[in-house]
Amino acid sequence: MSRLGFLSKLSPIAHWYGGARGFASSAHVRRAPSLITLGDLSVPELDALLQRASHFKKTVKTHALGPGAIEHTMANKTIAIMFTKRSTRTRVASETSVVTLGGHPMFLAPSDIQLGVNESLIDTSRVISSMVDGIMARVGAHEEIETLAEHSSVPVINALSSRFHPTQILADLLTLLEDNSKPGEPLPSLSRLNGLKVAWVGDSNNILNDILACYPRIGMDVSVAAPAGDAYAKDPVVWDMMQRGLTSLPAGEPKGKVDWCHSPEQAVHKANYVVTDTWVSMGDENSKAQRMQDFNGFQITEALCKRGKADPDWRFMHCLPRKAEEVDDEVFYGPRSLVFPEAENRKWTAMACFDWLFGQIPLV
Ligand code: CP
Ligand code: NVA
Repeated sequence: MSRLGFLSKLSPIAHWYGGARGFASSAHVRRAPSLITLGDLSVPELDALLQRASHFKKTVKTHALGPGAIEHTMANKTIAIMFTKRSTRTRVASETSVVTLGGHPMFLAPSDIQLGVNESLIDTSRVISSMVDGIMARVGAHEEIETLAEHSSVPVINALSSRFHPTQILADLLTLLEDNSKPGEPLPSLSRLNGLKVAWVGDSNNILNDILACYPRIGMDVSVAAPAGDAYAKDPVVWDMMQRGLTSLPAGEPKGKVDWCHSPEQAVHKANYVVTDTWVSMGDENSKAQRMQDFNGFQITEALCKRGKADPDWRFMHCLPRKAEEVDDEVFYGPRSLVFPEAENRKWTAMACFDWLFGQIPLV
């Protein structure tokens, strides 16, 4: 059996090959499979990626050779890491993962290249993808990552757009599985998470959208509390994708329930996990004063979860970076908090994505 032979029992990924993001080619551009949202992946594919992430984590952390024990599936490969927004976790996780897999990460900041100043996104995508083996990009509007992927001849990973942040939620899933494992047990499959309830108390944003793209398909209930008003309404594209994803599940698969309200107390009722994010995402800075008013009452505290009757063992998650108004120090630094393992898991899950898309190690 190969190093990742345990993944070979999984079903094929038909939609990448000839699907919307598949190898549909034009005269000069061969579009490659890309990771734009976790909605792109079936539950077995998500399971395969998480098993791979856990394999990397255990190998590096328990093997005397450390990162030297990881096979160099990206030897002689260069990945363009193009970020037009700040990043700590995603950048560090990505650059170190590419190095561990034997490749070369080429970080391109907005001030380094012509993008957005002298050259269009389409031209940039065609030119850069003709010289590298993969692209990871953090962009503003979601349409930018779609354009990059559409015109790239190599795979593109979305490192955050206005609509989605798939690599973050992959790390959250690994964290949830680890939190639901017994000591010494191999990482369980996602079916272990069936029936758990996640409360999202916060903005209607990219992090929530990737949660909605996969948690209900895994059989987890999601209860959202966002402020009232158009700025915080559900994204109809995401809502539609979520419903289509649930409809296309094989018969008999458990489906999570999703509800949406404006009351944090209502959302956290019986929740096993309480999750939030910044109230002011990158790009929303102009509306900061209004947002501070609109999120009044949304801070995650012991008192809030007691009033709402969350599960007595509720745990807290946050993608970081965190501001104190979103969650108080007692919760953030206390025993309920999973935020630092969650941050570390960005690395192992990023490594799994690179190994799959750029190292060309199939999931199935
Ligand atoms: N959570 C996350 O994406 O963090 P960074 O913005 O620091 O990458
Ligand atoms: N919603 C946040 C996530 C940061 C990791 C943002 O888009 O800025």
